[in-house]
Amino acid sequence: MNETDPKDRRPQRIAVLPGDGIGRDVTAEAVKVLQVAQHRWDLPLELEEKPWGADHYLETNETLPEGAIEDLRDNYSAILVGAYGDPRIPDMRHAADILLGLRFKLDLFINFRPIKIYDRRLLPLKDKEPEDVDFVVFRENTEGAYVGIGGNFKKGTADEVAVQEEIHTRKGVERIIEAAFQYARRHDRGSVCMADKSNIMRFGHDLWQRTFAEVSERYPEIDGWHLFVDALTMQMIRKPEMFEVIVTNNMFGDILTDLGAALQGGLGIAASANLHPGRVSLFEPVHGSAPKYAGTGRANPMAAILSAVLMLENLGHEEAAAAIEGAVAESIRENEVTRDLGGELSTSEVGDRIAAALESVPVAG
Ligand code: NAD
Ligand code: IPM
Ligand code: MN
Repeated sequence: MNETDPKDRRPQRIAVLPGDGIGRDVTAEAVKVLQVAQHRWDLPLELEEKPWGADHYLETNETLPEGAIEDLRDNYSAILVGAYGDPRIPDMRHAADILLGLRFKLDLFINFRPIKIYDRRLLPLKDKEPEDVDFVVFRENTEGAYVGIGGNFKKGTADEVAVQEEIHTRKGVERIIEAAFQYARRHDRGSVCMADKSNIMRFGHDLWQRTFAEVSERYPEIDGWHLFVDALTMQMIRKPEMFEVIVTNNMFGDILTDLGAALQGGLGIAASANLHPGRVSLFEPVHGSAPKYAGTGRANPMAAILSAVLMLENLGHEEAAAAIEGAVAESIRENEVTRDLGGELSTSEVGDRIAAALESVPVAG
């Protein structure tokens, strides 16, 4: 994941987009932790908060300002996102423009979602050990069912017809499968499992089958294998130790990674990276804006903090990233956590606890 020379002292501008609901609460804690790390490890980060989200849209009718995508693409090193979604905007218009807009227009074709166990008590499966759940999902992030192509005919009548298309391109499928195999090779993972529904989706998902077979041949040392997504869903629970790297389309990846989150302790700790190697990338928790928890102190900030860890790794700050991840794991072990993980701390208390732990980590320099 690391693409940057750590000795490069040029400033790294980070656009911080807290978004809506608990996105705002958890991002404040990720920023708190990043600021401590910045100071302790002398990181050249410049954090700049952007107001885009539901409130901004309702006040100004603007989702993303003109030129924002180009500005992020050309002038920033990374984007840190909270979450989007607000009950006042039921069609998710602003989220489609902002979150899907950034994924699509910055061509962030890899949605990388790691699933691992930070402490044994978070593992909900009986007869399994923490090391049995340790895999990553490569979710295609720029096409599939998310392209918004379709329409309604006779809308609102008894004869209504709705069409919603999926798009799978040879180039799009090949590059995400390649990325999964590259990751396996670099991280010493012996297998890549591709999940589709090619028994039914005879056109789009058959393209995945054929492309996967071709790409697999370029990686003879890695076992490329396949499961239909329904069977894979079952095996993720029954035998999660079967999986090292999973690659799949956009919609299946969305669903599988909420299940993955449940395997690792819940949405409160599941992190993700939206990547296009060599370009500006976006880091965000897997969870949404959970409006009912907004501002209540209930939200677990760990998913946001672990997303910041993925960001630091990507920016070449491995030592700081490892220290933060270690502090999160320690908080979990000591039950200094929010209620979703069985503790009693508030969102900001967890952030404070992790920030304080960083102050005492030795710095190698
Ligand atoms: P959600 O992820 O917001 O919340 C589902 C449930 O998971 C919550 O009710 C809560 O019990 C739990 N949860 C989630 N995050 C948590 C955290 N940090 N700490 C503790 N518990 C947490 O999903 P939803 O309720 O289906 O969606 C709410 C809104 O968020 C919708 O508008 C949806 O479209 C949007 N959404 C946005 C993103 C994103 O921005 N990436 C992701 C998923 C959903
Ligand atoms: C996620 C979310 C998003 C998705 C929504 C909010 C568009 O569920 O990041 O997992 O479906 O990709
Ligand atoms: Mn999702």
